Amino acid sequence: MIEPESRLQIVFADLRRAVDDVIGKHQVTLDELIAAIDWLQHVADAGELTAASIFFYKTVQQATDGATYAHPEKDGASYWEMQGPAHLPGAPVLHSPAVLPMRPDEPGEPLIVSGTVRTTAGAPVPGATLEIWQIDANNVYSGLDSSAFAPLNIPNDSTGVPTYNLRATIVADADGRYEFRTVMPGVETFGLNPHSPLDTLVHALRLQGLRPLHIHSMVSAAGCQPLTTQIYFDGDPLVDGTVEGAVPAAAVKTTTRHDNPDDYNARGLSQPYRTLTYDYVLRPS
Ligand SMILES: [Fe+2]
Repeated sequence: MIEPESRLQIVFADLRRAVDDVIGKHQVTLDELIAAIDWLQHVADAGELTAASIFFYKTVQQATDGATYAHPEKDGASYWEMQGPAHLPGAPVLHSPAVLPMRPDEPGEPLIVSGTVRTTAGAPVPGATLEIWQIDANNVYSGLDSSAFAPLNIPNDSTGVPTYNLRATIVADADGRYEFRTVMPGVETFGLNPHSPLDTLVHALRLQGLRPLHIHSMVSAAGCQPLTTQIYFDGDPLVDGTVEGAVPAAAVKTTTRHDNPDDYNARGLSQPYRTLTYDYVLRPS
């Protein structure tokens, strides 16, 4: 009887084929191959081997956690994006239109995000819930310390920040519409040590060890597959230059700035604000 190939054999054979293709296509020399292995040894010696997964982490997550949304181009469903380590369950539930929990003097330009939750068939999804979380303008996630981001070495001191600051579950209205006010997010780093082997490679690739500006969301509704995604911002150079790989173009949104005092005063604000529209498209289960 012939033993079936193990998963290890199957995946390794494919990996070897892919590497062979790259070597052949670019005429990679033996010296270059040995230099690459040598670099890997430096990464291991620096304790960065696990952190090096940032290059492919998102791809792996999409192939597993995001598998049901892996081909949104087929039916127009929203792009799946990784949940990441900054999610914190138990955020307060608020009905749309809502203001995310924030401090009275919350830093950052106000931002109002609104849109509709609908299915790929175009039907609005009444009462959908949108769990929203983001980093603040001081580059801190509330309710977490640095240990939440291991094995990455991401500094996150949330001392003095309310646990659920800039976190909430928003309930959409009977027409699937939602609106919440927040502030423009700060910058999240991958926490690479400056001039470490991994950091040096990231810079040699002309990439940044920073995430693009983003707002996380997890959208749930009866009869639909839950969607984890992120909203990105047009004009943010990190959208095209981050170490994590391409950000889906459909998730990159333009904001409109409103600087007329009559306008922002009517909103109860004392400064200009931005608006952004984003429709979440869920795949029926
Ligand atoms: Fe994040």
